[in-house]
Amino acid sequence: MTVRLRQAGTPDLDNLYRLEQVAFTGDRFSRRQLWHLLNRAHAVTLVAEDAGTAGAPSQLLGYGTLLFRRGSRRARLYSFCVHPGARGSGLGRRLIEALEQLARSRGVERLGLEVRADNRVALGLYRRLGFRLQGWLEDYYEDGCAGWQMVKELAPSVEAAEERAG
Ligand SMILES: CC(C)(COP(=O)(O)OP(=O)(O)OC[C@H]1O[C@@H](n2cnc3c(N)ncnc32)[C@H](O)[C@@H]1OP(=O)(O)O)[C@@H](O)C(=O)NCCC(=O)NCCS
Repeated sequence: MTVRLRQAGTPDLDNLYRLEQVAFTGDRFSRRQLWHLLNRAHAVTLVAEDAGTAGAPSQLLGYGTLLFRRGSRRARLYSFCVHPGARGSGLGRRLIEALEQLARSRGVERLGLEVRADNRVALGLYRRLGFRLQGWLEDYYEDGCAGWQMVKELAPSVEAAEERAG
């Protein structure tokens, strides 16, 4: 299987919505919320897509969305998942690394996220990628589960450093 990453746009809405339904067990985004993310000026979504074989439709295997803030060197990993059938083969790590790279190229120095306290796989992945625990969020999710706030300092990319140097 050849998996490629690319930036998502409005034509991906239906497939993204289907992926959201199977990848999360709760706190899912509605179609309307996903549409908003795809069309929001300060959000970028990367999708992982199985390029498929000739003639077969491509399939979305994962996505991650970053939110930026104007005039800020901080960004937030707002949503992130991999299709259950594609988990455990490094795609989650690949997506996060690509999102980090994208954030760095835009001059972001600090990437934050929130994760369910009972989500061992995601917590382990973030920790191994260098995110550290920053804060405890009591009763944060719709079922009452607590969350962790995590953060990672990003090294400036060559492009961003050059741009800043003028
Ligand atoms: C979290 C998630 C995105 C990880 O995706 P993935 O493609 O399986 O991730 P990877 O294959 O890159 O694996 C990441 C790490 O977790 C480990 N891992 C994966 N599945 C695991 C499992 N079921 N149990 C234990 N460890 C597991 C891998 O060994 C890997 O470890 P490494 O970094 O040392 O190599 C995926 O499980 C998911 O979509 N979960 C539901 C949505 C979700 O929780 N999103 C995050 C919200 S904050």
